[in-house]
Amino acid sequence: MAKEGHLFHGNGFEKDIQVVKEMTGDEAFYGLGDKTGFLNKREYEYTMWNTDNPAPQLDNFQSLYKSIPFLITLTKDTAYGLFFDNTNRSYFDLGKESSQYYWFGSDSGNLDYYFIGGESMKEVVHGYTYLTGTVPLPQLWTLGYHQSRWGYKSASDIRSIAQGMRENDIPCDAIHMDIDYMDQYKVFTWSDEKYPNFTEFVSELREDGFKLITIMDPGVKIEAGYSVYEEGIENGYFATTPTGEVYENAVWPGDSVYPDFGKETVRNWWGENHKELIDAGIAGIWNDMNEPASFKGELPDDVVFYDEDRESTHGEMHNVYGHNMSKATYQGLRRLTGKRPFVITRACYSGSQKYTTGWTGDNHSIWAHLQMAIPQLCNLGLSGMSYVGTDIGGFGSDATGELLARWIQVGCFSPLCRNHSAMGTRNQEPWQFGPQILAIYRKYLKLRYRLIPYYYDLFFEGEQSGLPVMRPLVLQYEKDEEAKNCNHQFMIGENLLVSPVVEQGATYKTVYLPEGEWYDYWTNEKLSGNTHIVRKAALDTCPIYVKAGSILPQFGDQSYIGEKKSEDLILEIYPGKGSYDHYQDNGEDYAYRDGCYNHYHFELDGDKLSMELVHHGYDNVYKNIIIRCFDKENKVLFQAGTKA
Ligand code: GLC
Repeated sequence: MAKEGHLFHGNGFEKDIQVVKEMTGDEAFYGLGDKTGFLNKREYEYTMWNTDNPAPQLDNFQSLYKSIPFLITLTKDTAYGLFFDNTNRSYFDLGKESSQYYWFGSDSGNLDYYFIGGESMKEVVHGYTYLTGTVPLPQLWTLGYHQSRWGYKSASDIRSIAQGMRENDIPCDAIHMDIDYMDQYKVFTWSDEKYPNFTEFVSELREDGFKLITIMDPGVKIEAGYSVYEEGIENGYFATTPTGEVYENAVWPGDSVYPDFGKETVRNWWGENHKELIDAGIAGIWNDMNEPASFKGELPDDVVFYDEDRESTHGEMHNVYGHNMSKATYQGLRRLTGKRPFVITRACYSGSQKYTTGWTGDNHSIWAHLQMAIPQLCNLGLSGMSYVGTDIGGFGSDATGELLARWIQVGCFSPLCRNHSAMGTRNQEPWQFGPQILAIYRKYLKLRYRLIPYYYDLFFEGEQSGLPVMRPLVLQYEKDEEAKNCNHQFMIGENLLVSPVVEQGATYKTVYLPEGEWYDYWTNEKLSGNTHIVRKAALDTCPIYVKAGSILPQFGDQSYIGEKKSEDLILEIYPGKGSYDHYQDNGEDYAYRDGCYNHYHFELDGDKLSMELVHHGYDNVYKNIIIRCFDKENKVLFQAGTKA
């Protein structure tokens, strides 16, 4: 057996560096960013190499688009984290080779790893995000519903989607524009033919409450006269071969070159290039294909990329290509708008959470991928990437009505809530499957919109603590054996437990309730935890439980965030003992960092609620704060101008 310790095999060896750690027997492993399979990674092996593989992802896939070499180990007595900060291709074997030890290693690079101790898993996550950064507070509208499809081809296609949302009473804040909006897939262009009055079109949608988000791939089309290509060539902004020629491969536009985002000058140039889109009113940027993807075979390891002003290689910079692209985009948008940038990426590395949200790439409309979404998003959250979602309904293959109805019951809770699908697959906007599915979709999106203040509070706190919005049960109940492998439930913050149905045809769900007292969200029935229950769950029912002593802040119904001035805050209370902190600000810029926010603290004892305005830095205090407790008549806790 390999002994605990460090192994150096010498140059030229695969897995040149290895770190071996003894296993004592009851280890469970979490984190590792975006991986397929189950919540607990014990006995599996993984590779960190950002990979664009369109095949339906299975449990035995070793790598996906993102590489986050951060592992949490939980045993009966302790929790600790290991962050292996090596951007080269790296490996984690978590007890596959042997039940006596686990190891991680890399083909190349330095042996830099951090041991992150803590009293609990939460402290470990806090420690890791203290090191690599937390998710900054997003703009409020970004928490709404996003609709997308690779296949909306023109202004009229997008207009009809927007109209469909309003006509069908589906709340929606954003529509994503996939590669077809561009002129021949040339980045930083749009097609005048498909969008004859682009700027007017964008503002017309804005007036209707829709923000538009455009895709931006890294590959720059090789074309004489195309300014982005020519400027890049003139200034040496693209990656080169070891002999100094600009390196060429192919992506959507055909033959293309790759900006070298490791250089600050390139990041600044790239960021600045967004100006026209931003001036036209585009509200966010979708960074795709940034593993980087390449249609003519993988980039050779020796293609020259820079790490700031140090010459480096593709082998070393591959896993941070998406990270640096997102950083360039984030910094550009921040400079151009002064607002909190909305960026969504496919590829990333540790720390990318500071710059971007993420989605899990090209899943399929299959039940296995709905099931996988829960552990996948939970582990991403434990790995710092908390603002994430899957393509609701699935990207590849054809969705069914039932699958979409069940997927929205997970998707409406995921931090990023976007429905997206691939060209050639069955359309999967909420109204494509008839009135029953539409009604279910609407029911869950309305719930999401009412809960927006709860999500915002979790993000506000997450910026400080690094704790994710969507959490596996084990983060909250780490001593609970049942929670360790709970793949089919999750929590939103500490108060909401969601146990969705993720099996075709199922109308019952076995729910695990951890210790404590819980209320069934739909019936208000009070239940004692530490037990499994069987909950009836017809197609329109996602079992949801609220912890006794919870206070859930809510807004009234809206078609999009900001449609109505949020003058009233509703506090839904679930009797018991508890407290809650709520934040309020302008939802857009960085003024909150200078104190322009309100912080309300609530204490609940039984069904008695008290309130304190702990910090008052934002003018728009709520006009009314209303308490709602089950079917009892609402009570007013606070009215502006009167004393609480
Ligand atoms: C990639 C993306 C997908 C996008 C498509 C076309 O496959 O992952 O989301 O729709 O490219 O741009």
